[in-house]
Amino acid sequence: MNVPKVTPVIHPRIKDFLSDSTTVDLLINTYNSPVNMLFPELAAENCTQFQEYFRNSKLNGSIFYAHKANRSYGLLQEIARTGVGIEVSSIEELHNALEAQVPNEKIIANGPKNSSYLQKAIQNGCFICTDSISELKEILNTPGKHKILLRFSNFFDPETPMRSLQSRFGIPYENANDVCKLIVENQEKIDTLGLSFHIDSTSDGEKRIALQSLLRLIIKWKTEGIDVQAINIGGGYRINYIEDKKQWEYLLSVIQSSVISGDPYLWNNHSFGYYIANGRIRGEGSFYPYYTPVTGTNHLDTILTASLPEISTSAKQLIQDLMLEILIEPGRALLDQVGITLMNISQVEKKQDYYKIILDGNYKHITADQDILVDPVLITKDKRKSSPSACFLFGNLCLENDVIFRRQLLLPFEPKKDDIFAFINTAAYKMDFSESKFIHHTLPQRLLVKTMSDQYTITPDLEKTYDL
Ligand SMILES: Cc1ncc(COP(=O)(O)O)c(C=O)c1O
Repeated sequence: MNVPKVTPVIHPRIKDFLSDSTTVDLLINTYNSPVNMLFPELAAENCTQFQEYFRNSKLNGSIFYAHKANRSYGLLQEIARTGVGIEVSSIEELHNALEAQVPNEKIIANGPKNSSYLQKAIQNGCFICTDSISELKEILNTPGKHKILLRFSNFFDPETPMRSLQSRFGIPYENANDVCKLIVENQEKIDTLGLSFHIDSTSDGEKRIALQSLLRLIIKWKTEGIDVQAINIGGGYRINYIEDKKQWEYLLSVIQSSVISGDPYLWNNHSFGYYIANGRIRGEGSFYPYYTPVTGTNHLDTILTASLPEISTSAKQLIQDLMLEILIEPGRALLDQVGITLMNISQVEKKQDYYKIILDGNYKHITADQDILVDPVLITKDKRKSSPSACFLFGNLCLENDVIFRRQLLLPFEPKKDDIFAFINTAAYKMDFSESKFIHHTLPQRLLVKTMSDQYTITPDLEKTYDL
């Protein structure tokens, strides 16, 4: 078995940045390892693509960046400058959006809310995406007129023998009649009304069922005289991390055969979410589909143009016919290629079949407990002759499970202490999703990289704090 190589997609601007190994080394020496680099201009380019999609498709669409995907304030500011709104999930995120001068009609307050978060969102006239019927009642009991997005979940399509996983968020779809009654009784307290879902899955099938269910409800409610103006279809637009489909297919085949054979290619028989039944591999794997040909706005279009059997047209057509505003909440798709994480090698030890590499950083700096199925790039200060080298990467925590990749990587040359790994495309849910101060490690620095007449300017990201 040849150890698979999985080459990441790298934006030309990031390739160019990484080609200067002296600067990369200087950054590690100045800010310590690991260091997170963000390229806000690339986020702005992603925003433009979504804006153009809505413009060209004649949909009345609005985009809300899911702030939870990355903690950076500088990134949020740049995204807000493009005119894209912000979807927030906590009072601190809401403060960030307000501080960045995002207008109230461009903020969606989502997620579970304590009273101060809910009241702050109401006072500022944001869209409130309701997490429960009791939250809806609390909103309706607060004086004033409110912008309400009724978040539904647990959709069921009798025609499709598939049920989405139960969600803890939103109002179960089967309670729609109770909600309808509340809305009818309180119409004068509502400024804008929309129906909403977010499916936390990469399955298009589940999104289609949710979309069909909400459109069905909107038609019913409109005929009953309820003025529904918007539909919010959440986030989940895929991005592609891997250059070559063949590399991805080979990787999956090697992982699967190694799970069956117990090959030491995998660390401690890690299963990647597969299991064996009757000697055969089963399951879909518990990882993000790192290679995917349909991404971003194309993925959004696939969801919107699929024909919905019950409605016998596409969601896109029906949304136009019903003159609904469509809202989306992309996180990952707006951060495609926007960030990289640099980590120094602090120790290298040659074992019989592989190099054991210890990094000055750990699995929480890249993601937590999720397998990353794309390789990092090795950056060296000296020129080295090609010498393909298999290795395992471990982190700097005193935890057995601090294994950054539970599969061997194939490096182009022999690794050495103080070489640097660049992990690519880490802005969304990777670089800061699980960072912690465990064993008193300091949190990594986030740096913003901007281009100015062919030069890079690098500034520390601001961490805003608020008196709550
Ligand atoms: C309510 C909601 N909206 C939007 C998103 C963004 O999803 P994605 O980053 O996959 O686009 C999330 C992510 O968890 C979410 O919970």
